[in-house]
Amino acid sequence: MQSTMYEVRSTFGTEKSSYFVPRKSNFMNVVITGASRGIGKAVAEVYAANGHALYLCSKNEVALYKTMEELLTKYPGVKIKGKARDLSKQEEVENFGQWILDNSINIDVLVNNAGNFLPGSVHNEERGVLEEMMAVNLYSAYHLTRKLLPQMMKQSPVSGTRGHIFNMCSIASLNAYANGGAYSISKFALHGFSKNLREEMKQHLIKVTSVFPGAVLTDSWGDYDNSDKRIMEAADIAQMVFSCSQLSPQACVEELVIRPQLGDL
Ligand SMILES: NC(=O)c1ccc[n+]([C@@H]2O[C@H](COP(=O)([O-])OP(=O)(O)OC[C@H]3O[C@@H](n4cnc5c(N)ncnc54)[C@H](OP(=O)(O)O)[C@@H]3O)[C@@H](O)[C@H]2O)c1
Repeated sequence: MQSTMYEVRSTFGTEKSSYFVPRKSNFMNVVITGASRGIGKAVAEVYAANGHALYLCSKNEVALYKTMEELLTKYPGVKIKGKARDLSKQEEVENFGQWILDNSINIDVLVNNAGNFLPGSVHNEERGVLEEMMAVNLYSAYHLTRKLLPQMMKQSPVSGTRGHIFNMCSIASLNAYANGGAYSISKFALHGFSKNLREEMKQHLIKVTSVFPGAVLTDSWGDYDNSDKRIMEAADIAQMVFSCSQLSPQACVEELVIRPQLGDL
């Protein structure tokens, strides 16, 4: 549906100005990994609140079903399905991807969000941490995207687009810092994946957005005391992801950097 333009008169003079009522989007099927908690759950909620269908994944089955139940109670009538899989394992990623394909849906939005944060430094972090970070933060997105892309590339365009892929990078994809270690390395790699995908997918009418959040209050921050509202809320990121998926087919937000108002910690 097209957005509607209203013409209004400025209260300060005779000059005309205009504003837009937000574009009312077509119904979308939205695939989100790491959706049981944190940013992924917030992204799921904003799409559910707008009536879109959700296909969710996380590792822990009990937590995933609890989130699905919570969303279904809050947004009855919204279609929500989920499958628990360990996305650090290639065969489980492909199994989740196959389940999505078996649902025979148009894949309108894919949010590669599942990830883990382990602080550490290159010189002394434990053996195997890099492999673990790469598996969950990079390979999960790479393998799932490759599993779903063939269908996305051949599905009929809806309002001029064949879909939209979001990759949840981090400001740790952009800047090195002393305690970044393997996590930051894996997020730089995810950024590289996302940039390459963006170039490849332009002509296929598939949008690709790299999301770079700064600190967001989720379980990753443990029992951090945010009573002074120093760090962002998961809903901030979700709102921006949703907004990016509402633009005209000819517009793609390539990079979305969101930091706390007072800057990084
Ligand atoms: N919070 C921040 O400050 C921040 C900043 C920048 C970027 N990010 C990125 O944003 C994304 C979400 O972060 P978050 O803070 O919301 O994390 P979170 O609260 O710890 O939630 C992580 C989500 O990913 C899922 N997940 C983790 N490992 C998985 C695996 N092996 N297989 C399947 N699912 C798995 C978790 O499911 P289970 O509960 O089942 O394990 C959970 O749903 C991550 O990629 C993170 O790097 C976060």
